[in-house]
Amino acid sequence: MDHFELRNGVLHAEDVPLTTIAEAVGTPVYVYSRATLERHARVFRTALSALPRYHIAFAVKSNPNLAVLKVLAKEGYGADVVSWGEMERALAAGMPASDVVFSGVGKTRKELAQALEAGVGQFNLESEEEGHELAAIAQGLGLRAVATLRVNPNVDAKTHAKISTGKAENKFGVSYDKAAEIYAKLSGLAGLEMRGLAVHIGSQITDLAPSRAAFVKMGELMADIRAAGFTVSHMDLGGGLGVPYKLGEVLPEPAEYGAMVAEVTQDWDATIMFEPGRVITGNSGVLVTEVIRVKPGVSAPFVVVDAAMNDLVRPAMYEAWHDFVAVRPTGETMLANIVGPICETGDTFAMGREIDVVKAGDLAVFRTAGAYGATMANTYNSRALVPEVMVDGDKWAVVAERIEPATILAAERVPEWLE
Ligand code: LLP
Repeated sequence: MDHFELRNGVLHAEDVPLTTIAEAVGTPVYVYSRATLERHARVFRTALSALPRYHIAFAVKSNPNLAVLKVLAKEGYGADVVSWGEMERALAAGMPASDVVFSGVGKTRKELAQALEAGVGQFNLESEEEGHELAAIAQGLGLRAVATLRVNPNVDAKTHAKISTGKAENKFGVSYDKAAEIYAKLSGLAGLEMRGLAVHIGSQITDLAPSRAAFVKMGELMADIRAAGFTVSHMDLGGGLGVPYKLGEVLPEPAEYGAMVAEVTQDWDATIMFEPGRVITGNSGVLVTEVIRVKPGVSAPFVVVDAAMNDLVRPAMYEAWHDFVAVRPTGETMLANIVGPICETGDTFAMGREIDVVKAGDLAVFRTAGAYGATMANTYNSRALVPEVMVDGDKWAVVAERIEPATILAAERVPEWLE
């Protein structure tokens, strides 16, 4: 459920007509609903209420906007970060460093040291090598790093290949078969406090069975490691729960996910950690765009919109579907190809799609654009960096300004020897 609804024939974000925002800020523009964000944060938390001990670290990569993080900080969420840049954002939003989990396969030595000094709550180690480096850095700083070992369970999440992370051939974590041995080695290092295991098999997961299979395997590994005399007090189950992108699509609800986790982990006697991203932010945002013009095509007309693959890359990158609806729908529909202005065929949002009738100058939105939307934007074709707005009831504010091509140009230099 979200708070983007038609009122008197105009699509609103909460109490604000999207026409008002488009007029004031221009298009394309991302619009987030605070009420939707809060709702999703609460639904996810409620889904976990059967667990005796848990910790939620919002996957900042899905939407790192400072105002978004602020809303989630107020909801008591910690953060899952994958760079020092994301860590700075979590701290700026008021999340305690101790509630932050540092994930990622390529944390640099500098980032490890920065996060340690900032008092990060947990590192999710992705290799034995990283564990040795972190231990040495921590000792050098007179600190002890709290860590888990990320394990690759070799389970197919049955999602898009580019966002599948839990198969043996993927770059993430240590191999399941070597994990106990590596855990034992790392547990012996003075600079490290190994406290658990981590797993994350992929994103936009639409079937709970692979997650369940991975969690069961992790439980068995946990038992083996404990039997060998090592402590496992924390089990990080990652993120990945999918969201509906198409109207009417039915996916596992957070409550079903929570019930599955509660069942699998009932005898674990561990703090269960989560790193949800998309399920919190996905439906909390839309990308508002204006139709530049409609031109004829072979089997359907091309609706050329002013948003492009640089603003929302998911369709070009993952063949992702985003519902496209008019801000002032007439009730009539048309068959169309929706494309952006960028000079490559990949800049296509949809082909042969039944959509609301739109014409030049009309506003429309791509729905479910709150996760992996603005954060993956770039300035390809010397386009502006897309701005972001947050709505709260009848209030709204620009929470990230549009960065104009001229500003980006101003940061470039022509060396003297080229003048
Ligand atoms: N934890 C780890 C270790 C991750 O790698 C990710 C996402 C998450 C948590 C959060 O996953 P979520 O709950 O959002 O599914 N750009 C792609 C998605 C990439 C996901 C990367 N890792 C997309 O637009 O679909």
